[in-house]
Amino acid sequence: MFKINDNYQKLPGSYLFSTIAKKVSAYSAANPDKQIIRLGIGDVTQPIAPAIIDAMHKAVDEMGHAETFHGYAPDLGYDFLRNAIVANDYKARGCDISADEVFVSDGAKSDSGNIQEIFAQDNKIAVCDPVYPVYVDSNVMAGRTGTYDADTQMWSDVIYMPCTSDNNFVPELPKETPDVIYLCLPNNPTGTTITKSQLQEWVDYANKVGAVIIYDAAYEAYISEDDVAHSIYECEGAKTCAIELRSFSKNAGFTGVRLGFTVVPKELKCGDVSLNAMWARRHGTKFNGAPYIVQRAGEAVYSDAGKAQLKEQVGYYMKNAKAIKEGLTKAGYTVFGGVNAPYIWLKTPDQMSSWDFFDYLLENANVVGTPGSGFGPSGEGYFRLTAFGTYENTLAAMERIQTL
Ligand code: MLT
Repeated sequence: MFKINDNYQKLPGSYLFSTIAKKVSAYSAANPDKQIIRLGIGDVTQPIAPAIIDAMHKAVDEMGHAETFHGYAPDLGYDFLRNAIVANDYKARGCDISADEVFVSDGAKSDSGNIQEIFAQDNKIAVCDPVYPVYVDSNVMAGRTGTYDADTQMWSDVIYMPCTSDNNFVPELPKETPDVIYLCLPNNPTGTTITKSQLQEWVDYANKVGAVIIYDAAYEAYISEDDVAHSIYECEGAKTCAIELRSFSKNAGFTGVRLGFTVVPKELKCGDVSLNAMWARRHGTKFNGAPYIVQRAGEAVYSDAGKAQLKEQVGYYMKNAKAIKEGLTKAGYTVFGGVNAPYIWLKTPDQMSSWDFFDYLLENANVVGTPGSGFGPSGEGYFRLTAFGTYENTLAAMERIQTL
C-alpha cells in the first residue's frame, strides 16, 4: 500500500483564504439579498492596463502564425523579459543584478512555496508573526516544522518574530539563530514596512550568522516613502545572503494572468555550492516556463506607456488605502499600514477576537476582511482590509462601518 506525505496531515484546517471564501459563500447563500463588499483577499479589481493588453493581443496574433509561433518558453524566462526586469527593477536602482540571476515564473506564490525545496530538512526557519501563510505551510508540507500547538497556534521548530504595535511592527533579530529567514516588506498582512537602514541590519545579521533571507517584495510598487528599499539588493552585502521574490500581481494586476520572478544572485553560496545553479536545476526540471503571451505582457509593464498607466493604477489603490485609513479612524478604530502597502491593519474593537470581528463585520456591514489571527498568533486582535477593491465599494464599506 502506498504511503502519503504525513506532513500534510499536520496542517490545521484549510488554507486561510479558502476558509474565508467558504464562510462568505455560506453567508451569501443564506442571505441572497445582501450586497457583500469583499475587502478580504488581496485580489485586484482594476482591468489590465491598455499598454499591456496591446502587447498581449500582439503576442496572441503571433501565436497564430507559423513564422512567429512560440512553443515551450525557455525554462528560466525569455531574455526580453529578464533584460527588462534587470534594467528597470535593479540597474535603475543601482543594484548590480544580471539577467542570469533572474528566474521568471508563474507568480510569487509558487516561488515562495517552492523555494524551501533547495534547503536541508533540518534547517530552522524564522518568520514574522503575523505572516503570509504560504511560508509556514510550505515548510510544514516539507516536514521542516515540528508539531502544531493549537493553544498557542505555533509550530515547534519555527522561530516566530512577533510584529505588533508594541514594536511598531518591526521584527527584532531572533535570539535563537535561524537558517532561513522569511521577510515580506512592505508587509503582508500588516501593511507596514521598515527603513532601508533597518533592512541593512537584517542583511548584516544574515551574513554574520550564515542565514539566507527569502525576501518577498511583492508590494514594492506601493512604497511611497524615500527611506524604504524597493529591493533588498539596495543593501550592501545582500547578494551573499538574500533571494528576492517579485510579483506582477499587485503592481500590474496579474493575479489572473500569473507572472512573477525570483532573483538568486550567483554570489549566494553554501560552501562551494551555488544556489543560483540549484534553483536553475529545480526550475528546469519542474517548470516549463511562463507562457510567451504572459511574458510579453510582463515586458509591457516596463514600457513607457505601461509604467505611466500602472503608476496611475497604484495611485488608485492607494487612494482607497487613504479612504480606509481615514474612514476607520473617523469610526474610532486604531489603524496601521496603508502608507507603503495596499493593506490596512486595524485593532479589533472591544478586545473582540479576530474571527468574532470577521463574523460581526460580515453579518452587520456585509463587509469581508481577513482575521489577523489567520496570519499567526500575534495577529490575534487585529484585522486586515485590502485597498484592492473599487473606490466606490471602498467608500461604501467605510460608510457601513461608520454607521455600525
Ligand atoms: C493576500 O490576500 O494575502 C494575497 O492576495 C495572497 C496572495 O498574494 O497570494
